[in-house]
Amino acid sequence: MFSGKGGVGKSSLSANLGYCLSESGYRCLLMDCDLGLANLDVLLGISSEINILDLLDRQIPAERIVQPVTENLDLLPAASGVPELVEMDDDQRGLLLQQLEPIMSEYAFVILDMAAGLKPSLLTLAHAAGKRIVVLTPEPTSLTDAYAVIKVLTAQTEVRDFLVLVNQAENREEAQATFHRLDAAVAKFLGFHLTYLGMVRSDPNMGRSVAKQQALVRVAPQCPAAQDIRTLAERLLSLRTALLPELADKPVLKNL
Ligand SMILES: Nc1ncnc2c1ncn2[C@@H]1O[C@H](COP(=O)(O)OP(=O)(O)OP(=O)(O)O)[C@@H](O)[C@H]1O
Ligand SMILES: [Mg+2]
Repeated sequence: MFSGKGGVGKSSLSANLGYCLSESGYRCLLMDCDLGLANLDVLLGISSEINILDLLDRQIPAERIVQPVTENLDLLPAASGVPELVEMDDDQRGLLLQQLEPIMSEYAFVILDMAAGLKPSLLTLAHAAGKRIVVLTPEPTSLTDAYAVIKVLTAQTEVRDFLVLVNQAENREEAQATFHRLDAAVAKFLGFHLTYLGMVRSDPNMGRSVAKQQALVRVAPQCPAAQDIRTLAERLLSLRTALLPELADKPVLKNL
C-alpha cells in the first residue's frame, strides 16, 4: 500500500483491511514499512520492545519480532524516530527480504504499509510485493502525487500493474471520477491502464477509532467507512483466489 502524498489513509486502511481479512479466517501479517516513523503499532494499541530494526541490526529472527494483534492477525512493528532506518542501503534491503522470507509463507496476506513518497527502499518493497495498491484521495494534490509515484516506479522497475484505492471520498461517483482522472493521465503519458480496487468514504468514525487504538471495523462495524472496507476485503479475497495458481510457484516476496 503506497501513495505519493502523506496522510491519505494507508496505515488506517492497512490495519482495517488486515483486521477484516483475519476475521474471515485468513492469517494476515501487517508489516509497518514506515521504517523511521512507525504508527501501525499505535493504531492497533500494540507496544513492542523489539522491532524491524532488531531484525537488521541484531539478526533476531522475524518470527520473534512479529507481535500478535488478534488470533489471525500479526504485526511486524517498525522503529519510531530512528532516522538512519529511513534509508536502508542495498545490503540492508537484501538482508531484510532474506530475513522475512521464512515467515511469509505462513500468511495468506502480507500487507506492507509504506511511508509516503519515493525513497529507494519504497521502490524495492513495492517491486517485491505481489500486488501494489496506490492510495489517493480526491484532492488534486493527492492525484498529482499519486501520478508522480507511479511514474517513478515504472521508470525504475518493470512494474506496470497497479490497483487504485480512493480514500476519503464523498461518494462512489467522486471516487470513480478520481480514479478515471488518474487512469487517463497514466494511459496518456505512461501508456498503460490502472485497475480500480474500490473506495472508502470519508467518515469521522475513522479518527475516533484511532483515538481508541482499535480497528474501525471492530469499534464501529456498521459505519460507512467500515462497510466500504469490508467490500474491499472481499475484493482482495477474490483477487487472491484468482492469483493463487500464479503465486503457488513463487515466494511471497520475490528475491531481488
Ligand atoms: N476514510 C476516512 N475518513 C476520514 N478520515 C480518514 C479516513 N481515512 C483516514 N483518515 C484519517 O486521515 C489521517 C491520516 O491517516 P493515515 O495515518 O492512515 O494516513 P497515511 O497515508 O498512513 O499517512 P502517512 O503517509 O503519514 O503514513 C488519520 O487522521 C485518519 O484517521
Ligand atoms: Mg502511515
